Order: sequence, then structure tokens, then C-alpha cells
Amino acid sequence: MTPKPTDILQEVFDEYARDQFAFSFSGAEDVVLIDIGTKLLGSDLPVFTLDTGRLHPETYQFIEKVREHYNISIDVLSPDTETLESFVRDKGLFSFYQDGHLECCSIRKVQPLQRKLAGLAAWVTGQRRDQGASRTEIPSRQVDRAFSTPERELIKFNPLAAWTSEDVWDYIRRHDVPYNPLHDQGFLSIGCAPCTRPIQEGESERAGRWWWENEDEKECGLHSQNLRPIQVIQEQDS
Ligand code: ADX
Ligand code: SF4
Repeated sequence: MTPKPTDILQEVFDEYARDQFAFSFSGAEDVVLIDIGTKLLGSDLPVFTLDTGRLHPETYQFIEKVREHYNISIDVLSPDTETLESFVRDKGLFSFYQDGHLECCSIRKVQPLQRKLAGLAAWVTGQRRDQGASRTEIPSRQVDRAFSTPERELIKFNPLAAWTSEDVWDYIRRHDVPYNPLHDQGFLSIGCAPCTRPIQEGESERAGRWWWENEDEKECGLHSQNLRPIQVIQEQDS
């Protein structure tokens, strides 16, 4: 039987102390995890977001709204100043349209994430299998091969893996969960402003992300292991 997101989160809370795990929050519909998480654990829920410096104004406002609504603190992580300044000095502010998003994502997202995860044993993401070609195999629990080190195995929980977009929106409506107003403007998946556009009817959920690149390469490094076979230690829901 497919475990419910609530059961998977309960497993995280039972297995790890509060300073050993954190929820990653992108400022989009993964807010449902914060809703479920705070119902189980209260406002001590450890949450972080990667502030790339390029998010939509609506997303910054939404992150703030979530912080107030759930009375939680959100750890807002920034890129390393020197690395970012040197990159922008060399390549400008829109190099990703010419040579791909990986370098910019590495500096603005992946390196800050790596710093954060270095102090944790587990993290929670809002990834779902229905989000696109690179995510169809995601289990609800896996070893994070991208961010584990020889000294430390990091576990990645994807409690919404088996949920569809419809399940998520059902939950948001039924529980009156606040959501990013960009969703009402045709954005299903939301990332940085210059790299996200609304999708047309019939397009896949992440078609508006890095739309100038290949569908099956649409991972920015946070979830790069989706592009290779996944090692599952406890596949509970396939
Ligand atoms: S991305 O890698 O292409 O940006 P996506 O937007 O689909 O990922 O989000 C999938 C999950 O990755 C989110 O539910 C969240 O757990 C994590 N994530 C993505 N972007 C961020 C961010 N800026 N800050 C924190 N977590 C993020
Ligand atoms: Fe840079 Fe775009 Fe990646 Fe944001 S999504 S970090 S702007 S390449």
C-alpha cells in the first residue's frame, strides 16, 4: 500500500532529532508539506529555502506569508558572495540562455544547499513522480547520492512522490492552505523568474522551467541523481 505523506513525515520525526533534518521549501505548492508538517510537529518545524536572488517578487512575498501563517522560522540561504560576484562579473546576469543553467544553478542553489545539508542526516523535498520525465522513478525515501559523503549517508524523503498535481491542489483547497499567486497566472512549477514561464494547456508541469533546454535534462543539481539510476534503500511505494 502507498504510504501517506503524513506517515512518511511521522517516520522522519520518529527517526531523527529536530536538528538532524530539515524541510526544503521552494515557495511553490510544496507548501502542503509545511502544512502537514506543522500539524504533526508544531511551529518548531525546521524549514529552509534557497534564495537565488532571482525569484519572483510574488515568491518572496509568499515565503514571508508562509512564515507568518505557520508561525515558523524559515532559514533563507544565500549564495556565496565572492563566488557569485566573480561569476556575474565574468558572464553577466543571463549567461544561462547561452550556455545552460547548470553553472548559475550550481552557484545560486546547489552550493548553498550543500552547505546546509552538510550538517544534516536527512532532508525532505516536495518532489513528485508526475512532475516530468526525470522524476518518474522517485521513491518516497532514498539515499541522497548527490550529497552523501564517505563519512555520512544522507537520506532524502519525498513524501509527495506518489501524489499527483491534482492531489496537491485538492489538499490546498480542502485545507485552505495559502499558495503562491503565480499559480493563478499559469505557472504550475515555479523556479527563478528568468528561467520559469507559464505553461500552455497539455504541456508537462515543468515545461516552463528552462524551456530552452531538453525536457529530460531539467534538473538543476538539487536533484541531479534523478538523471541517473536511483539507489533505493527502502522503496516503500513502487
Ligand atoms: S528544481 O530542482 O527544478 O528547482 P522543483 O522546483 O521541481 O525543483 O522543486 C522540487 C523540490 O525541490 C521542492 O519541492 C523543494 O523540496 C526543492 N526545492 C526546489 N527549489 C528550492 C528552493 N529554492 N529552496 C528550497 N528547496 C527547493
Ligand atoms: Fe540561475 Fe536560472 Fe538556475 Fe535560478 S534557475 S539559479 S536564475 S540558472
